Amino acid sequence: MRSLDLSVDIAGLSLKTPLILASGILGLSGRLLAKISRAEGVGAVTTKSIGLKPRDGYPNPTIILLPYGLINSMGLPNPGAEAFLKELDEAEDLSSPLIASFYGYSVDEIVETARIIAKHPRVSALELNVSCPHVSGVYELGFKPELVAEAVSKVKKIIDKPLFVKLSPNTHLIVDVARAAAEAGADGLTAINTVKALAIDTELFRPILSGVYGGLSGPALKPIALRCVYEIYKEVDIPIVGCGGVSNSLDVVEFILAGASAVALGSVIAFKGVGVFRELAEGLSSYLERKGFRSVREIVGLSHR
Ligand code: DHB
Repeated sequence: MRSLDLSVDIAGLSLKTPLILASGILGLSGRLLAKISRAEGVGAVTTKSIGLKPRDGYPNPTIILLPYGLINSMGLPNPGAEAFLKELDEAEDLSSPLIASFYGYSVDEIVETARIIAKHPRVSALELNVSCPHVSGVYELGFKPELVAEAVSKVKKIIDKPLFVKLSPNTHLIVDVARAAAEAGADGLTAINTVKALAIDTELFRPILSGVYGGLSGPALKPIALRCVYEIYKEVDIPIVGCGGVSNSLDVVEFILAGASAVALGSVIAFKGVGVFRELAEGLSSYLERKGFRSVREIVGLSHR
């Protein structure tokens, strides 16, 4: 059992631990998200991304398992913003903050979607996904600092909840996009989304995924994600949620030392189940105690000193 208090405050949210369920992992079901929010070690839960209108997503195959991670290409399936509100009505007894991930094909659509989902009392914060690696219109947004800034400042004018922006690693401009989001009023950054990837069927001579491209997640992503967090922390002064390839508690520690104030778990949940939150919280607590620290905050960005 862990004895240390792992609580963190990030972008106006109070989390019991710095461990967050990443977007897209356990869907949009209000009941399921509420259940996860009560699991030991969970600091917050993030929904699958929501758009203004319903989207079916792509036909199978949508996931490829690899020795070092997975590629997924679901195609942003979701019931649309209004239906999401009804879904959240089912989410009784959330015991950790719920972050609603959302996307849009244009600034106007982003603003409209934010307006709808932010009004639900169970939504504690929003996360703008400008980085889905294969849905055209959404993918390109994340490469354009001025468009991200416009979206952020317009959304911030109409919501009174914290706004995170989930950044794309598929651009050399990640720090510029991060800075633009921060200057426009974003409360936090999530770094990173998946890396655009491809797999080919050698018997059929064609791409395996029906969406052709997918997003690579899992252990292969960790050094890239860590580098992005480190670079952003140097230049941008708002809290960062580290995300990408975490599989054990020392991975969590690395992200925090690089500059993350919290860390999102994604693919590891598919491999190890929800019990991984408790395992990583205990490991983080033991690490802090072994090194003589009393809080997570004391080690945020420590590798830069
Ligand atoms: C999907 C969305 C993402 O943001 C991502 O990183 C990977 C896949 C999707 O819905 O297909």
